[in-house]
Amino acid sequence: MAACGVGLLTWLHLGAHARGRVPPPIRRLLSCPGPVAADLKREEQPSGSAVTGSEDSTPLKRFSEVQKERREQAQRTVLIHCPNKISEKKFLKYLSQHGHINNHFFYESFGLYAVVEFCQKESVASFQNSTHTPSLGAEAVIPFRSRFFNLKLKNPSTKTSEQSHIQCSDQSPPSSKKLFELLHYAESIDDQLHTLLKELQITEENTKLRYLTCSLIEDIAAAYFPYCTVRPFGSSVNSFGKLGCDLDMFLDLDELEKLNSRKTSGNFLTEFQVKSVPSERVATQKILSVVGECLDHFGPGCVGVQKILNARCPLVRFSHQASGFQCDLTTNNRIALKSSELLYMYGALDSRVRALVFTIRCWARAHSLTSSIPGAWITNFSLTMMVIFFLQRRSPPVLPTLDYLKTLADVEDKCIIEGHNCTFISDLKRIKPSENTETLELLLKEFFEYFGNFAYNKNSINIRQGREQNKPESSPLHIQNPFETSLNISKNVNQSQLQKFVELARESAWTLQQEGKDRPSPSSNQPWGLAALLLPSVANSKALAGKKRKRLASERIKTLLESIKSNNTEDSTNTGGEKTTLLESIKSNSTEDSTNTSGEKTINTQG
Ligand code: GTP
Ligand code: MG
Repeated sequence: MAACGVGLLTWLHLGAHARGRVPPPIRRLLSCPGPVAADLKREEQPSGSAVTGSEDSTPLKRFSEVQKERREQAQRTVLIHCPNKISEKKFLKYLSQHGHINNHFFYESFGLYAVVEFCQKESVASFQNSTHTPSLGAEAVIPFRSRFFNLKLKNPSTKTSEQSHIQCSDQSPPSSKKLFELLHYAESIDDQLHTLLKELQITEENTKLRYLTCSLIEDIAAAYFPYCTVRPFGSSVNSFGKLGCDLDMFLDLDELEKLNSRKTSGNFLTEFQVKSVPSERVATQKILSVVGECLDHFGPGCVGVQKILNARCPLVRFSHQASGFQCDLTTNNRIALKSSELLYMYGALDSRVRALVFTIRCWARAHSLTSSIPGAWITNFSLTMMVIFFLQRRSPPVLPTLDYLKTLADVEDKCIIEGHNCTFISDLKRIKPSENTETLELLLKEFFEYFGNFAYNKNSINIRQGREQNKPESSPLHIQNPFETSLNISKNVNQSQLQKFVELARESAWTLQQEGKDRPSPSSNQPWGLAALLLPSVANSKALAGKKRKRLASERIKTLLESIKSNNTEDSTNTGGEKTTLLESIKSNSTEDSTNTSGEKTINTQG
């Protein structure tokens, strides 16, 4: 799905409306009350406010509570491919035969789909029992009974006067034209940052669809591992995801063991008879391999399944056609889940954090600093760490250090994963709000100043301690992995990519400074503030664009070919899926421009 990317660079003339004479800034309100709505409550507060957290009457939910609630909701939910024209009223009446419906919405993605949440899980079983497996004429079918259905009209030719216009929920970000209009008409730079966040953030419905997709995949994986859990992680749940971002999934096989702290009586203890393999990694590869086969052969709507088992973090990548999500399924990756929780906490602590992270991610994307393909460029995860670090360095700090969050932890927060201490407080309400009252405009400018002049050659970025530290190794950019502290999450970034980042940061700081002095008149159609930052830079101007694009493309192709080469030599069991991705990436890269709009996944094989 298209994310905020190259399209943003297309400025459209907007002279007809003057700033100030336009509708008030858009406030997208979440229609359904629920965990995410509650979680995002702080974000609705005015920027620069020191009043967060404790004065908010809505209790902020812990990450684990949100996950639990969403998961349970998804288990009561079904996905239905509908005929293009149906009567919503009749549709709901038909489904209500199986039980009360709690919630539903429609969306379009190569056809019309409905997401229907029943009040009771039993309704899903009743619906399944009333459904039959189709026969497809000459083709044979695999009779897998999932929660993904096809709804057909018994008599399609009947003219149904009740066929109302179905209101569809939007699952893609707004067009760049609309986004630029909104930015143009915003009242201030702070307002622009909030607008960008509100327009691009994952919606309530999109969140439901993400949890539902994980739940559907869990049903398939359960064919082998009946007690597994498939959880979303990464930007789908850490509050920094944009509409259209990938869906990172974690196949958890230990959940049940953890829940049942088996207190058996008597003198005996039982264990399962199991097969052993030489290492955790081999076990992970074998598990993902069979689940990948299952998705490929039996998973309704799962297409383009690739087993990428020799990456540092083995994964199965596929497209879930009906939801439109590009999915990455991993297992034995519990630290990444903990990282998602940590980012969720930081995103919820202060209303400015998410607005700033979204802006920096969009800015980086618009200037081709990030890409959807693996390579020597910075990732969104690293950029988020940089923003958090910067906010920890303000005076007074906007965000606390990870070490401080660890000192606040309860006994139940204690968490050691593979020998790494991942403990930090989970109760957001117990963290004191920041006393920092700086505006987003100032923070944005200062971010560019700070990282435009950072001593990358000697210092490391470290959100655990919230201060610059001597670099332990010579990579151009060193961002310490917050939990596996000996690792550098930006080890892949080369000197030229870092240089480009620094130049653009300096240039953007300068642009913002000029803005203050020399803002175009409200009636002019000149891009201003954030809109000006998302436009091509001087270095990226027309004269240089062609040359630069070619250089970038050849740089990327070189990296990709190297990856293919190493993949060929390393991976004897690989099904060739990874090669296909890389070749497809080259193709899309050379046809799309140097910036890629297809999504933002990068497999960092090092940090
Ligand atoms: P998007 O670009 O919106 O997909 O952001 P994302 O945060 O989901 O990034 P991505 O899909 O690349 O990775 C998913 C999650 O894996 C991240 O949120 C991190 O928790 C983890 N992760 C990604 N890259 C690294 C890395 O280099 N090192 C470590 N330790 N974890 C990573
Ligand atoms: Mg992701």
